[in-house]
Amino acid sequence: MSWTVWLSPPEMSSVEREMLLAAFDSGWVAPAGPDLDAFERELCAFTGAAAVVGLSSGTAALHMALMAVGVGEGDEVLMSDLTFAASAFAATYLGARPVFVDSEPQSWQLDPELVEAELAARAARGTLPAAVVAVDLYGSVCDGTSIATSCARYGVPLVEDAAEALGAGRDGIMAGRFGRVGVLSFNGNKIVTTGGGGALVADDVELVDRVRHLSTQARRPVPWYEHGEVGYNYRLGNLNAAVGRGQLATLPARMQQRAAVRAAYERGLADVPGVQFQVVPTGCRPNHWLTTIELHPRTFGANSVEVLAALRAAGIEARHGFQPMHLQPVFAGSAPVTAGGTSVAARHFQRSVSLPSSGLLSGDDVCWIIDTVLSARH
Ligand SMILES: Cc1ncc(COP(=O)(O)O)c(C=O)c1O
Repeated sequence: MSWTVWLSPPEMSSVEREMLLAAFDSGWVAPAGPDLDAFERELCAFTGAAAVVGLSSGTAALHMALMAVGVGEGDEVLMSDLTFAASAFAATYLGARPVFVDSEPQSWQLDPELVEAELAARAARGTLPAAVVAVDLYGSVCDGTSIATSCARYGVPLVEDAAEALGAGRDGIMAGRFGRVGVLSFNGNKIVTTGGGGALVADDVELVDRVRHLSTQARRPVPWYEHGEVGYNYRLGNLNAAVGRGQLATLPARMQQRAAVRAAYERGLADVPGVQFQVVPTGCRPNHWLTTIELHPRTFGANSVEVLAALRAAGIEARHGFQPMHLQPVFAGSAPVTAGGTSVAARHFQRSVSLPSSGLLSGDDVCWIIDTVLSARH
């Protein structure tokens, strides 16, 4: 289906085009090359991490991250219930079982108090998880400071899934930098895209070098094909990296544009009864990847399904917020850790709508989208 307005289309300028053509003309059409090396260096400088390895997807980066922190067969991994499935799939690739933890009611991010309580209870039982995966949702950032403190208290490694949050920050720390390892995605719908790709960031240079080795088919540096262990073909291509370099250079400007789009939505919708925007916690600077609202059906006068139908009929691409992992058929039977038995994530799924969030939307586009949302009321 082709939409008049897309949810989060790639935003390319002449910068990305020129860098891609220069890489093409250089002959480095391979999963290695100078643009990949430069992109990794630029990501280090941008995030402040000591080391970065460019990978073929955020999912591959999550797989490598969990493997690198020691997750294996039969382990449990505590993670955000409200996320994209890749966060949980990565644990299952390693034979581990994801244990889903609920969100805070306003920011919808992983609830740090639930993480602390669950780790404390498990420490008392002697069943600590092998890792915690904290997801940064919709371009905002989870309370990584509190979650990292809890993880450190119990000696559990923290992986931050910042796939959606490159450029965002909280408490003066960049998204992806709270845990032992951070994961980024450059999927086509992300704020920085390489047409598909991801990265793993960390201060532990040895860990990143090990992931670089494993993700390059674990090939030993000898002049013939030699492998001492099972490897993966997970590296980012040089042409993709060239596009990523151009995207990274323009990220600050595009974050400002997306912030302006969210502000325009707020001007039109924040005072409408029954509309709740994702709350930005104090000290958090989102990249505004996806502006997402929750609708209280009775107060607003329409539910999320009706609003999405009105948007679809107008040719506007919008989405439900994430379906929590504990409600996914593939993870059927996994009871989430919640406060008092009510799932914030399940409520979010029922009520949420992610609105078109491209920084290239005009004021008129946003007004039209707002009018269409309001037209669904009965
Ligand atoms: C939270 C989250 N984690 C992981 C991923 C997976 O990244 P990729 O699509 O690059 O594999 C995504 C999105 O695609 C995501 O939103």
